[in-house]
Amino acid sequence: MKTAAIIGGGVIGGGWAARFLLNGWDVRVFDPDPEAERKIGEVLSNARRSLPGLGNVALPAEGALTFHATIAEAVEGAAWVQESVPERLDLKQKVYAELQQHCAEDALIGSSTSGFKPSELQEGRGNASRIVVAHPFNPVYLLPLIELVGTHVNPVDVIARAKEIISGIGMYPLHVRKEIDAHIADRFLEAVWREALWLVKDGIASTEEIDNAIRYGFGIRWAQMGLFETYRVAGGEAGMKHFMAQFGPCLTAPWTKLMDVPEFTDELVDLIADQSDEQSGMHSIRELERIRDDNLVGMMRAMSANDWGAGALQNVQDKAREGEAGLLSHIDQIGDLSKPVLTLNRTVPLDWTDYNGHMTESRYLDAFAQSTDRLMLLIGCDAEYIASGGSYFTAETHIRHIDEVHAGHSIQVRTQVILGAGKKMHLWHEMYEGDRLLATGEHMLLHVDLATRRSAPPAEHVEAALVKLATAHAALPAPDGLGRAIGAPR
Ligand SMILES: NC(=O)c1ccc[n+]([C@@H]2O[C@H](COP(=O)([O-])OP(=O)(O)OC[C@H]3O[C@@H](n4cnc5c(N)ncnc54)[C@H](O)[C@@H]3O)[C@@H](O)[C@H]2O)c1
Repeated sequence: MKTAAIIGGGVIGGGWAARFLLNGWDVRVFDPDPEAERKIGEVLSNARRSLPGLGNVALPAEGALTFHATIAEAVEGAAWVQESVPERLDLKQKVYAELQQHCAEDALIGSSTSGFKPSELQEGRGNASRIVVAHPFNPVYLLPLIELVGTHVNPVDVIARAKEIISGIGMYPLHVRKEIDAHIADRFLEAVWREALWLVKDGIASTEEIDNAIRYGFGIRWAQMGLFETYRVAGGEAGMKHFMAQFGPCLTAPWTKLMDVPEFTDELVDLIADQSDEQSGMHSIRELERIRDDNLVGMMRAMSANDWGAGALQNVQDKAREGEAGLLSHIDQIGDLSKPVLTLNRTVPLDWTDYNGHMTESRYLDAFAQSTDRLMLLIGCDAEYIASGGSYFTAETHIRHIDEVHAGHSIQVRTQVILGAGKKMHLWHEMYEGDRLLATGEHMLLHVDLATRRSAPPAEHVEAALVKLATAHAALPAPDGLGRAIGAPR
């Protein structure tokens, strides 16, 4: 039941289509615009470039994308129908009336609406219990947040199923428990937008200066800690109460015009559009989208390394995908011990490439380090073991760069244990794209006692598992290039 119907394939519908497809769902699209196929194709190529490398584990095989001439045809067999037609209530209601005549009884219908409440969308529908708001953020294929809003007519199991599907495609369902116009996030954005319009209208700041005020300062903070956690830190050691005592009174100062709305005159629209052209007109929209995506991927990957915010969410997704990607977490799960073991299956992320347009040299070590971590996990050197005071440190590394690879390409590493005895672990990693050998990595590691930072024998169970794998691998031929000195003829 992994078929999604996308009704309306513009900026948002195209992003949803990409999100479902790249997470292995079949996607059926209806959009009356003859240009829809081209537009979705462009969104999809941006998504293919950025999403698969966001995490450290390969995504499932892409689903099939089809375009349909009617809503009736598009919703056939769909478990999830996502409506992303223009923001007009009458149009949305008309679309539900039609699609509910044809979709499965139990299909869930999510609306991308930025402003309408679910009760408004459900009005007049016989089967309203299946309709919810599932409000995404652009680019839908990269940003994980979905504001999931229902009403009292949505049974608990509908909300639970919606959460399950949204999580399954790598997103975060934020269940908005009480419906409200514009949900949660857009109310902030509206407040910030109003304040920015005043600043431009009053000639205080240009569009560029306002953007700089955000992107050089609080915007970076918001992305990783949100509002309250950031302010808690801002309160210093005394924390949130101190922060509120210090800044609370400002709310009554004449800082803000939040309750007023500047009149949207042609003059104001022109002023903003002209400033925006001057600020960003040198880039096409597609170019700006790619710059945005590169930065989003880089920021989210940095947070993955810290297991924080959107990065922590990505790590949970990665963990859930390991099995399907063939990555195991204990030696006992390995079916055939006699072969090199799969220790990495991922896509080359955008932030791993360099000015030569291919994966940069330091990232080969990154990839091999992930493989070594996986091998350590397989032999029982897991987080719990490391917390108890034992681990492996790398003493020596030799990487051979054999062929190039580019962002978005799928790579696998298979690992052979050359020696595993006592404190020593000698590993041989081979990196492939399909059958093409890209690189080899040879590493000598020593087991250490983390308290003394000196080499020490591993715990019995870790050594036993390592020896088991090393013994099974001993029958394999010595890899070509093993122990090779730098510069020796190939
Ligand atoms: N743009 C954003 O940043 C954003 C963010 C979150 C949510 N949304 C919401 O997503 C929805 C769509 O917004 P968008 O920005 O993608 O708009 P858009 O104009 O880019 O796309 C709307 C698409 O719907 C198609 N359409 C029109 N009538 C249709 C019909 N009867 N059946 C099927 N398709 C039809 C249009 O051809 C168009 O391709 C709106 O409800 C909006 O509030 C937008």
